[in-house]
Amino acid sequence: MLFLARGGQAIDFSKLYERTGLLSYDPGYASTAGCKSTISYIDGQKGELYYKGYPLEELVAKYKYSDVCKLLLTDALPQNADESLAFELELRHRSFIHETLHNMFAAFPTHAHPMAKLSSGVSILSTFYSDHGKMKNEEDYQTMARRIIAKMPTLAAICYRNEIGAPIIYPDVTRSYIENILFMLRGYPHGRLKQGLHGTIEINPLEVEAFDKILTLHADHEQNASATTVRNVASTGVHPYAAISAGISALWGHLHGGANEKVLLQMEEIGDVKNVDKYIARVKDKNDSFKLMGFGHRVYKSYDPRARILKQIKDNLQTKGIKMNPRLDEIAAKVEEVALKDEYFIARNLYPNVDFYSGTILTALKIPTRFFTPVFVIGRTVGWCAQLLEHVKNTQARITRPRQVYVGK
Ligand code: ACO
Repeated sequence: MLFLARGGQAIDFSKLYERTGLLSYDPGYASTAGCKSTISYIDGQKGELYYKGYPLEELVAKYKYSDVCKLLLTDALPQNADESLAFELELRHRSFIHETLHNMFAAFPTHAHPMAKLSSGVSILSTFYSDHGKMKNEEDYQTMARRIIAKMPTLAAICYRNEIGAPIIYPDVTRSYIENILFMLRGYPHGRLKQGLHGTIEINPLEVEAFDKILTLHADHEQNASATTVRNVASTGVHPYAAISAGISALWGHLHGGANEKVLLQMEEIGDVKNVDKYIARVKDKNDSFKLMGFGHRVYKSYDPRARILKQIKDNLQTKGIKMNPRLDEIAAKVEEVALKDEYFIARNLYPNVDFYSGTILTALKIPTRFFTPVFVIGRTVGWCAQLLEHVKNTQARITRPRQVYVGK
């Protein structure tokens, strides 16, 4: 049976085995649609991304990240400023975590990767909100989602503060949802200190605006590896925060969200624009497993729209006096210039993805490299919630249980 999806046609294979005894074989699921969804839509040929039918560019230009969260969770943008503020205030007020959870974070080795701490923290959060394991109605769904979106920045900030041995900064509900994230990372108790470990503690409104847009760019991205993980784990009927914890683990990998950290480390390794050609040659060497981090995508066969918008954010910040690291910025520009003209990249449709430029900007916003992927988590939590809720609300949804082509003895 064929049905029309927005982007074309799909063949419904769901009864193939039952009717013919044949399986479809698709490692990596490159040709498999695992669900029907109304959340986000990618046109990989044109390089376009939509959330709930709205072009990403429009949402980034006209709406706050919290408005986009409301859109993804309720199908509607706030209708006016009061509605927008009411939603954001709910997030601000839900940002605190139970005090005893601090003890768990304190027990991790200081140098444990923040993504490991974060996924454990979210899993443990399920023990504080066991009721979410039996959600019955829309109110339950919304409370579960808003709670985790509100608390994720607090958990991420605690991971960071513990790692550097700095005092924990509690959420400040008088600050916007976005400003509070930067505050919890940078602030110091009593607010009198002007300089912190990463320079000035003051939060510039331009930084808040840029960070807000960065989170919107990361909010959802259809059935990527972490969203698929969240849906698969949720399909077993488990507590939603256990599924989101699994999503965090999936995002950590360097082929997925962990690439934003690796891009920066790779730029550092390249070290100088004069070495760029040497590294591009390594990419093309069949005996070398070296890959250019922040390049390539399963779905985009043209420029990732998120990378395009990130470049605009970067240029805007620079024009207004927020400095990037000039050496890393120069290397990134050179890598892109050389790669986009190179036959290897052209033949394989390899373009910069969302992770290529995000790190340069996050560095300028004084976010340490190890915390780039937790920032991705903060932005993506709403997408995971929307994907999870779409799955659990679908009474026809089944447990994910693929088959295999057995080639053993
Ligand atoms: N550098 C060099 N070559 C690459 C790259 C890259 N970054 N990406 C893909 N290729 C090559 C592959 O080696 C392969 O070449 P071949 O046909 O000669 O064997 C070809 O392009 C197709 O690539 P696949 O790996 O088959 O593509 P796939 O869709 O499976 O993987 C992925 C997509 C994982 C994103 C890949 O492009 C990659 O590893 N990129 C680097 C990591 C990265 O930036 N990940 C973040 C993605 S965005 C996100 O998840 C948020």
